[in-house]
Amino acid sequence: MTTIVKTDPVRPSNDSVEAAAEVIRRGGLVVFPTETVYGLGANAYSREACLQIFKAKERPPDNPLIVHISDMGMLKEVAGRVSSEILGKLERVWPGPVTVLLQRSERIPDTVTGGSALVAVRMPDNILSLELIRKAGVPIAAPSANISTRPSITDSRHAIEELDGRVDFIFDCGPTAEGVESTIIDISGRECTLLRAGAKPVEELEEIFGPIRITEFSRGLLESTVPLAPGMKYRHYSPRKKLYLASSRLFAREVSERSEFLGKILIIGSEETCAKSRLDCISLGKEADLDEVARNLFSALREFDKTQCEIGIIQPFEERGKGLAVMNRIRKASSGYTENLDSLRTYLN
Ligand code: TXA
Ligand code: MG
Repeated sequence: MTTIVKTDPVRPSNDSVEAAAEVIRRGGLVVFPTETVYGLGANAYSREACLQIFKAKERPPDNPLIVHISDMGMLKEVAGRVSSEILGKLERVWPGPVTVLLQRSERIPDTVTGGSALVAVRMPDNILSLELIRKAGVPIAAPSANISTRPSITDSRHAIEELDGRVDFIFDCGPTAEGVESTIIDISGRECTLLRAGAKPVEELEEIFGPIRITEFSRGLLESTVPLAPGMKYRHYSPRKKLYLASSRLFAREVSERSEFLGKILIIGSEETCAKSRLDCISLGKEADLDEVARNLFSALREFDKTQCEIGIIQPFEERGKGLAVMNRIRKASSGYTENLDSLRTYLN
């Protein structure tokens, strides 16, 4: 049985957080909002509890989990020795949508790190999640709450649709603030590397951590067979219907103006593109407002699946600021690329 409780994520009711914390302490599963996406959490110190996460999410067992902490004191318990220089830098980005890889401590079971010597840690910028961790008294291991390969969950509506019956507790708190997951960087070595673009723009992180290596892999361009982040070799963010990335904004607009595709193709694009479209459209927001586009993306992918259209065409966005994360998610969610009407027609039945 799943308990579903509605509360305000900024001023959560004490009773709801206490009830969820009790579930965590007993080794159960809680779906909770963070500032990025909903997480599916369990006691990070308990191997048995964390194994339940993999089961509920149908997640491959070698894909490690992020450990969420509520304060710097907890960092000392989950990570090995952290230099005061790194601590100072972390204090500038936390709480916030930044996950770092650090040497793990012995308290963190192999189940959480996939056997790696490094643990991924973050302090979320969301009052409910911080209260939950504090009340539970243990760090919370949590991947994004979606079933494996599906788009991340950014609205509790979708959490209830997908997870009712699979977990012990779901917080019904509406949409999340950021809409894309945290930025993941590996700071365990001498060079700082981006493992996943996310809600915190790399440009801002470089001001704190110095130069960050951005691989083609982290932009979603290459699916490496030797993944930097173990889990990143898996299929991700996929709607059930086929989605194709248009080669340019202009080509997406050209498609959207062709009434021959009416009822067959759905356009996912900016407000500007949708305004002129003759086809069914899901707007992600103003073209230049990449924060808004990031916020709407995952919900749009889920809504696309509920439409009658055969396939979807999504337009590209600028790869600056949050656009780097947006384009990474779009590339991974897409089955392919389309650059002319002939190739597009072959995708239709
Ligand atoms: O915003 C977020 O990061 C959300 C919220 C819930 O915090 N969490 C999230 O978790 O997106 P997940 O599991 O969906 O994505 C985390 C990624 C995975 O691709 C995983 O492989 C990688 O981080 N990761 C976790 N621990 C790792 C480790 N020890 N070494 C390398 N990669 C790791
Ligand atoms: Mg995920």
